[in-house]
Amino acid sequence: DQAPVLTIDGPGGAGKGTISRLVAERLGWHLLDSGALYRLTAEAAARHAVALDDAEGLAALAASLDVEFLVEDGEPRVLLEGQDVTRAIRTEQAGDRASQVAALNPVREALLARQRDFATPPGLVADGRDMGTVVFPAAPLKIFLTASAEERARRRHLQLQESGTTASLSSLLKEIQARDARDMQRSVAPLKPADDAITLDSTRLTIPEVVDRLTQLLAQRG
Ligand code: C5P
Repeated sequence: DQAPVLTIDGPGGAGKGTISRLVAERLGWHLLDSGALYRLTAEAAARHAVALDDAEGLAALAASLDVEFLVEDGEPRVLLEGQDVTRAIRTEQAGDRASQVAALNPVREALLARQRDFATPPGLVADGRDMGTVVFPAAPLKIFLTASAEERARRRHLQLQESGTTASLSSLLKEIQARDARDMQRSVAPLKPADDAITLDSTRLTIPEVVDRLTQLLAQRG
C-alpha cells in the first residue's frame, strides 16, 4: 500500500467518526470506519443465528461480509446483504455486541486484509482502535484521540436527544466505561496509543478545532 494513511484511534465517543469523516472530506481521501466492520459482523451474526462466542463461525461471517458503503444525498449509508442497516448498527446494543465480537482474534484476522484494501491513492483516513498499532503500523501520522468518559457520555446523550431517543446520562456513562474496559483489557489488539502516536484530548475542543489541528499536523509531516 503506497497511499499515505492517517490513523485515528481512541475510545468510543471521542468524536473519531465525525472528525475522520471531516478530515477525509477536506483532504479528498478515502475513509475507513473499521468499527462499522465489527458492528456489521455482529449484525450478520444476529441474522444468521451465529452465537457471539462462536469464534470460527464469526470469523467465517467476517471474511465473507457482503457490505456496501454508499453516500446518498450527502448521507452515508451501509447495506448488509443488500439491506439498509445504517441505523441498526449504531445502537448502544449493536456497539456492545461489536465489542464482544472484536475481542475474538479469528474475527480480527479475518477483517485485516479487508481493512488494508482501503489504503489506495490519494490516501486514507483510518478510524478505529488498532489502526496505528496493528492494521497500519507504518502510517506516517498516527493520532490517539481521547476525551474524558464524562464528556463522551454527555456528547452521546446530546446525540440521542437530537435523534429523539432518551437514555439516562448515568447509564450511558456506565456503558461507556464498560466498553472502554473491555476494549483496553482484551488480549488481542487492545486499545492503546501506538508508540509513535500523538495523543489529542478533545474534551475541551470543538470539532472544527480538532479538524484544523489534524490537518496542520499532517501538513507538517507531509
Ligand atoms: O468505533 P465503534 O464504536 O463503531 O466500534 C465498535 C466496537 O468495535 C468497539 O467498541 C471495539 O470493541 C471494536 N473495534 C475494534 N477495533 C477497531 C474498531 C472497533 O476492536 N479498529
